[in-house]
Amino acid sequence: MSDSGTLTKTGLVDLSGVNKHFGELHVLKDINLSIAKGEVVVVIGPSGSGKSTLCRAINRLEPIDTGEIRLDGEPLPSEGKSLARLRADVGMVFQSFNLFAHKTILQNVTLGPLKVRKTDPKQAEKRALELLERVGVANQASKYPAQLSGGQQQRVAIARALAMDPKVILFDEPTSALDPEMIQEVLEVMIDLAKQGMTMVVVTHEMGFARTAANRVVFMADGEIVEQADPETFFTNPTSRRAQDFLGKILKH
Ligand SMILES: Nc1ncnc2c1ncn2[C@@H]1O[C@H](COP(=O)(O)OP(=O)(O)O)[C@@H](O)[C@H]1O
Ligand SMILES: [Mg+2]
Repeated sequence: MSDSGTLTKTGLVDLSGVNKHFGELHVLKDINLSIAKGEVVVVIGPSGSGKSTLCRAINRLEPIDTGEIRLDGEPLPSEGKSLARLRADVGMVFQSFNLFAHKTILQNVTLGPLKVRKTDPKQAEKRALELLERVGVANQASKYPAQLSGGQQQRVAIARALAMDPKVILFDEPTSALDPEMIQEVLEVMIDLAKQGMTMVVVTHEMGFARTAANRVVFMADGEIVEQADPETFFTNPTSRRAQDFLGKILKH
């Protein structure tokens, strides 16, 4: 550790003093968060608390007003080729699967590596098939997204993110649009990734996932990080009133 008295930044993803407004609405309030390589951080909190905005800020889908976000020590680029590379380094899996409807499953997975990483087409295809195998949908490779179930599509979205060899993957409520019977198959892929050391930020209310896979739970409310702890501590002994109220509501369901 540095003893120079200056702030030492050590995370793979570092947010310091991040603020973001939408007009008058202050949606990220002085966010300080450092995510280590290989760490799995689950972000929970009421609707509208800024969880999606936080994710979107980390891959610069949303610019921030003040503060700084660093990936691997480098400030996020704002434009051009380096922004495209950032988007590849920071994988994103959304609630709505966001696959290209007019491309096959295989093409959905090879597109990024071909365009952004300039991977050799044969190599990109080989890797895509391996990844589709890994998430259990290799036999669907030549189909189109609409021919797959929601759970299968979401697993393809994960394979697509992995195809870029991302440094971190952000998951924004990846199972909340799925029918209940498909949630587990997606969570299992995510648990597997976590075990293999992928750095992950996961917005989810799936407490089972948080308990199994998270190193840390971050609770947000009203644009602030109100509380954070390891899952066991957070779920059994939340210290803030807002976290207690929130857990009381979601755990009743
Ligand atoms: N593009 C936008 N323009 C204006 N307000 C937005 C926009 N995106 C989100 N908001 C508002 O910002 C707040 C935080 O939203 P969001 O990050 O989506 O919260 P969460 O994901 O925790 O539900 C909400 O009040 C939301 O209505
Ligand atoms: Mg959201």
